[in-house]
Amino acid sequence: MSRVALVTGAASGIGRACAKKLAQLDIKVVIADLDPDKGKAVAAELNGSFVSADLSKREDCQKAVTEAIARYGQLDILINNAGFQHINPIPDFPEDTWKKMIALMLTAPFLLTKYAWSYLIKSGHGRIVNIGSVHSLTASPFKVGYVTAKHGLVGFTKVVALEGGEHGLTCNTICPAYVRTPLVEKQIADQARTRGIPPEEVEEKVLLQKTAIKKLLEPEDVANYVAFLCSQEAWAITGSVQAIDMAWTAH
Ligand SMILES: NC(=O)c1ccc[n+]([C@@H]2O[C@H](COP(=O)([O-])OP(=O)(O)OC[C@H]3O[C@@H](n4cnc5c(N)ncnc54)[C@H](O)[C@@H]3O)[C@@H](O)[C@H]2O)c1
Repeated sequence: MSRVALVTGAASGIGRACAKKLAQLDIKVVIADLDPDKGKAVAAELNGSFVSADLSKREDCQKAVTEAIARYGQLDILINNAGFQHINPIPDFPEDTWKKMIALMLTAPFLLTKYAWSYLIKSGHGRIVNIGSVHSLTASPFKVGYVTAKHGLVGFTKVVALEGGEHGLTCNTICPAYVRTPLVEKQIADQARTRGIPPEEVEEKVLLQKTAIKKLLEPEDVANYVAFLCSQEAWAITGSVQAIDMAWTAH
């Protein structure tokens, strides 16, 4: 039987690219996402499964794992990808948005890992890949919820690696700089509003300001790295936090 991967937030952007790449490698893919229309379409395209889930809720995290097991009877790979961005200065940052960001981008990876643990261990070569961000390693103003959640993933990754090691389970976090996805298209508009500059200037002066290579990543750049970390060749890479950031954090 081929391996089975649960990919969160795979109706769009990086998650979709990861699901596609894993499916190409003959891995069965279960997509858990808030968006049923896009999620079902991606699942159908990949001959995979879709679970409608708001992963900021505990019961939906449980449902995602339960349905993956009900469908395929095993779970070998967990890709914690679902996330969103909100841009506001701290005094105006809504408390409910903060709570939702922490719930989706920090608590959900913990809960999904907890519920999937016994299956990942049984796999013998379980893989957890967290989609962090360059904002797991550095900060930017107006992103307090995002930066806090993404930094938290780094500590989470290390504990999972330590506890999973004896079972062949690896856990890593990938930290991309800006990737051309709907999330970033929205950020360009938000940053333009918050900073009072035209959207055209945001890509050059904000998004790529600190990178040595002045080009946005594509979702496939991240997906290829995810696929490598899920491979047998990457058995020894665990507890690591890996930047794909065009030298942003080399400063
Ligand atoms: N795009 C970038 O520049 C960039 C850079 C670094 C890290 N990331 C991270 O990559 C991940 C994916 O981002 P993307 O750019 O592909 O975004 P995207 O908006 O294209 O896709 C995010 C997906 O998550 C889903 N989602 C949102 N809230 C959810 C919820 N409560 N429950 C279940 N699913 C939910 C959305 O429906 C969507 O399908 C995020 O964690 C993001 O922080 C993105």
